[in-house]
Amino acid sequence: MSKPFRFFLLVLYGVGLGLFVGVLWKALPYYRLDLIERPHSLAHPDFKPGGRIGHALGILGSAMLLLLFLYSARKRELFGLRWGNISRWLDIHIFFGIMGPLYITLHTSLKFNGIVSISYFAMVAVMLSGFFGRYIYMQIPRDEEGHVLSLQMALEREKQLERELRNNFGLSDEVLQQIFMRFPERSGQLQLGLWEMIWLDIVRPFRTHRLKKIIHKEAPELSGRAFSIVISTIKQRNLLMRRRAFSRTAHKIFHYWHVIHKPFAVVMIVFMFIHIVVTLMFGYGLQFR
Ligand code: HEM
Repeated sequence: MSKPFRFFLLVLYGVGLGLFVGVLWKALPYYRLDLIERPHSLAHPDFKPGGRIGHALGILGSAMLLLLFLYSARKRELFGLRWGNISRWLDIHIFFGIMGPLYITLHTSLKFNGIVSISYFAMVAVMLSGFFGRYIYMQIPRDEEGHVLSLQMALEREKQLERELRNNFGLSDEVLQQIFMRFPERSGQLQLGLWEMIWLDIVRPFRTHRLKKIIHKEAPELSGRAFSIVISTIKQRNLLMRRRAFSRTAHKIFHYWHVIHKPFAVVMIVFMFIHIVVTLMFGYGLQFR
């Protein structure tokens, strides 16, 4: 991910979460009131679901939930949408997929009932399952653009990284062999299971510490920026190797994950529209008074 885009995302999350925390801070005393006491509160006209702020949050959250489907359009190149990196579109999908449910939660004023609560809980289920989906998504070898790499292409990329270590940093075959022997990675020929993959990700920071010690010993001439680039190149090469080993399992899990994730999204949208239509027909003022 480029630095400007990372900064852009950081600003988006900063503003998005800032707004969420700000409203929650102001509205919490109101949300804590019993339903029967709420209409007597001075905060009621602002924070009830149809109130000035509550209603605005409902519109904002729903708009975000609709906008996150732009990712599907970009993925399938619908409506001529071909520009931009798919992985970056997914980052925006995730931003809307997190902030939309947070704003909708404030819009409900923590009061869940009626048919629209089906939409609410479907939304929460899709959002939570999204985190697991994102984890599996990351395990599938991809190029910079987010397109899936074949196992052969992933292997070629690994070889290219090894060539870079040799040519750009003068690491000989013997030194590289020593490093790879003392810092082994699961071979791409083997098949990794989900739990093994999760475990390897948990222990990854400790392994990086060990890798640094090995490089200091095997290639003491490396320092500063060169040292950091070598570490990150070896980590990239090992990650690709591990992802190749997990690839078959990851594709299978990802397939089943889609089968669950998408129908929940459809249920959420259908009931959300029913809620909006009913609210418009009968007037939100009447509904939430
Ligand atoms: C209410 C919130 C959300 C809704 C309604 C939603 C909906 C969807 C839908 C319909 C797809 C299928 C896209 C396609 O293949 O065309 C999808 C894919 C995906 N979503 Fe979400 N999502 C939500 C939140 C999240 C969150 C919070 C995350 C991550 C933390 C996430 C991660 C993903 C990932 C990784 C994919 C798979 C991308 C792919 O296969 O190309 N989603 N989501």
